Amino acid sequence: MSTLTDLQQQFSLPGVVAIEPGTNGLPRVAIATPDADAHVYLHGAHVTHYQRRGRPPLLFMSARSYFETGKPIRGGVPLIFPWFGPARDPKLPAHGFARTKSWTLSDITRADDGSVTVSLTLAADDATRALWPHEFELVYRVIVGPSLGLELEVRNIGHAPFAFDEAFHTYLAVADVRAVTVAGLGNRPYLDKMDGARLKTQAPQPFPIVAEIDRVYLDTPDAVRVDDPGLARTITVAKENSSATVVWNPWVAKAKAMADFGDDAWPAMLCIETANADRHAVTLVPGGRHAMRANVKDEPREAR
Ligand code: BG6
Repeated sequence: MSTLTDLQQQFSLPGVVAIEPGTNGLPRVAIATPDADAHVYLHGAHVTHYQRRGRPPLLFMSARSYFETGKPIRGGVPLIFPWFGPARDPKLPAHGFARTKSWTLSDITRADDGSVTVSLTLAADDATRALWPHEFELVYRVIVGPSLGLELEVRNIGHAPFAFDEAFHTYLAVADVRAVTVAGLGNRPYLDKMDGARLKTQAPQPFPIVAEIDRVYLDTPDAVRVDDPGLARTITVAKENSSATVVWNPWVAKAKAMADFGDDAWPAMLCIETANADRHAVTLVPGGRHAMRANVKDEPREAR
């Protein structure tokens, strides 16, 4: 494994990209472009921070998050692969293993417009095979520009097909979740995990968040918008090659039950997760590739 000094020598771009010890000394890439700042940890390939210059942070981070080997980071963008939610075997980690593995930093490039792309990779090893017996390679690209671009490419490098779920578990920062409305999911079917995963249909109009919510929306290839009057902004989550969208807020009781989440932190976040899960799980034949993309941006409400 490369040391921090190796990574610094290989990837630093003075004034733009620094490889530095982050919380608890875990290595992270700190990016500063003309448009935005961002942090990406090698632990979980986890984006913990993105902020347009002069605007509030786009992403919520739990002040009580663990930053520890083997534990997921709470907030930012946990990367979910190869299964979403609890595994069939309760001994396996929820939401897969990608978010707790140490990823390899493979490339950092700067485009003519000043945006920076950080590429990280993860491949099957003995530990992943013990949890999920498939030969895969992942390439995750985080594009830091006037918006936050995310791309997860999954490659099947084995001799048998495999199926997987995936998600960018984006924790959006909001002023007060009780005041936001969510648009872009109207008329769509969803599995209501607050009601035994019953299949329901969303009403056509934008909806508010009025209680704990945990839903997997299906057939949702289009962008989702979160209108936040408190921060006077609209966040748009656009996507490609993603058919599911998860909407989650733990509300009061679940927030209290989570050790890495402040009891009173739930009003400040809403997860809008770009995903392929449930009946939208992806099957890849040997040699096959699949790339899911999201683009997350915030704009002042007046600009719409
Ligand atoms: C959401 C799930 O995506 O993630 C919820 O739909 C889950 O059911 C939440 O509670 C948080 O999961 P975790 O494993 O990060 O606590």
